[in-house]
Amino acid sequence: MPCNKYPRFTQGACRAAQRSSDTRCMATHNYQGLEVLYTRQQIAERVAEMGAQITHDVNGEKLVMVGILKGAAPFLADLSRAIQADATFDFVATSSYGQGQRSSGAVKLIKDLDESIEGKNVLVVEDILDTGLTLSYLRKLFMQQNPKSLRIAVLLDKPSRRIEKIEADYVGFSIPNLFVIGYGMDYAERYRNLPDICVMTLDHPE
Ligand code: IMP
Ligand code: MG
Repeated sequence: MPCNKYPRFTQGACRAAQRSSDTRCMATHNYQGLEVLYTRQQIAERVAEMGAQITHDVNGEKLVMVGILKGAAPFLADLSRAIQADATFDFVATSSYGQGQRSSGAVKLIKDLDESIEGKNVLVVEDILDTGLTLSYLRKLFMQQNPKSLRIAVLLDKPSRRIEKIEADYVGFSIPNLFVIGYGMDYAERYRNLPDICVMTLDHPE
């Protein structure tokens, strides 16, 4: 189904944008005038589905969920409660986009894992897979510790932006090249606490 506003939308993203008026938000724009791409209800439904799939794949074994700070925090909190497994949390932090919508390109580890992941089942949890630089870097780093398994869960995927060849094992929504904020994702550190995922336009008043 074509989307007038975003002709390159995948069907899922297009439907989500069109359905957003059915939710508690009752509008395609939130209280700040930002355009809603996925409502909190749509996110919750998809996260529940992802959790059920991961529960199935974990197959009763233990799991270490590794969140990438800061953007993955809300997603990890919700996803973990949708997974039925004996799970622990760890977190890493990498250099981020900086002040704006453009990536510096370089990835640097700011905070390492607290515990060794050797011999463990690891689920890396990330808000968005964009160029793939961050997850490629982290996957290589983590694999040096010889985990039993390593899988990647991302809420959003922007395949058209990929520089590094990497795919996630679990993807919430595949989206076109839009800059999004909310549900953990930021623009210059702001908007992470928006309950819905919104589109950041360059002309949005700051
Ligand atoms: P990468 O380009 O795949 O390495 O992604 C690096 C980081 O950029 C991700 O962890 C996100 O936090 C951030 N990022 C990428 N696209 C967006 C976006 O549309 N909004 C907010 N953050 C983004
Ligand atoms: Mg991030």
